[in-house]
Amino acid sequence: MRNFPITVHYLEIFAKEDINPKSVVQSDLKILNVKKPDPAFARWFYRSVGKKWYWVDRYYWSLGEWEEWIYGSNISMWTMELLGNFIGFYMLHPQSEANIEVAYFGLLPGYIGGGFGGHLLTNALNEAFSMDATRVWLHTCSLDHPYALRNYKARGMKVYKVERDVQPIPDCCPTSDAVV
Ligand SMILES: CC(C)(COP(=O)(O)OP(=O)(O)OC[C@H]1O[C@@H](n2cnc3c(N)ncnc32)[C@H](O)[C@@H]1OP(=O)(O)O)[C@@H](O)C(=O)NCCC(=O)NCCS
Repeated sequence: MRNFPITVHYLEIFAKEDINPKSVVQSDLKILNVKKPDPAFARWFYRSVGKKWYWVDRYYWSLGEWEEWIYGSNISMWTMELLGNFIGFYMLHPQSEANIEVAYFGLLPGYIGGGFGGHLLTNALNEAFSMDATRVWLHTCSLDHPYALRNYKARGMKVYKVERDVQPIPDCCPTSDAVV
């Protein structure tokens, strides 16, 4: 096990009107709600997007654990598709007092940098407020993509807490070559 020092930023937004929208107008670009997420599909997306960015917390979860988390926590999932290919996803986690956490969010590596991230986040925040959220929040760690934090701020989210922490990474971690 290796320990990496990380910085975690927590961000929040309180109203749909505070979103700075960004959109990519491209035919065949869609964002669709996954009506009943298959745990294997959710795990595939989590692993495929997060592998490069040290998303290890649920990497080794069994499908049973995914199922329990998704259905036990009332998680909802959206996918972004371009020309019929899955290119990104996000998951919303409704919590007490009408808080909604953007639990996971990201694009597959080959689609980063084309404006899709801002478009997807605009959609995620809008969907969360459509679910009657009074506050949407998330956290991002310094091992995430360098533009993750910028994207959240650019869309109107505000940092409310910054923490220094340590991320334990198992030696056998399939993502371990991502860390420099
Ligand atoms: C974070 C992520 C979604 C951003 O995707 P993207 O395709 O780069 O998004 P965009 O091109 O729409 O850019 C979004 C914002 O990033 C910043 N950004 C993008 N390219 C930039 C560049 N070359 N220089 C500086 N800032 C840049 C800008 O703030 C931009 O918003 P703006 O255009 O309104 O200024 C993407 O990098 C990703 O999926 N990363 C892997 C998974 C991850 O880290 N997820 C976050 C977990 S918390």
